[in-house]
Amino acid sequence: MGKRGKLRKAIHKRELEQETALVICVGKRCCDREESQALVEAMREYSGEIHAHTRVVTTGCLGICKKGPIAASYPTMKFKKHVTRKRGRKMIDKLEGR
Ligand code: FES
Repeated sequence: MGKRGKLRKAIHKRELEQETALVICVGKRCCDREESQALVEAMREYSGEIHAHTRVVTTGCLGICKKGPIAASYPTMKFKKHVTRKRGRKMIDKLEGR
């Protein structure tokens, strides 16, 4: 299964098909788990600050497995590598149409 298939599966599992979401991989292979978890927390905090509708969710491996942290936007299906807090905030802003 490709990365898009894995993303769709993660979204389906959480019943988020009708929502917008920033999906962050917390698998072990693309980067240190502490790094991806810190990104998740920072993005949840940012999402709360701006009262975003976008959900920030974690997932297992998305099949990219290098240059993490890896994050994907749903429903736009954009995948980003080396996601910093700044880049993550931009992804949320885009999903929010800001
Ligand atoms: S472990 Fe993160 S993409 Fe595979």
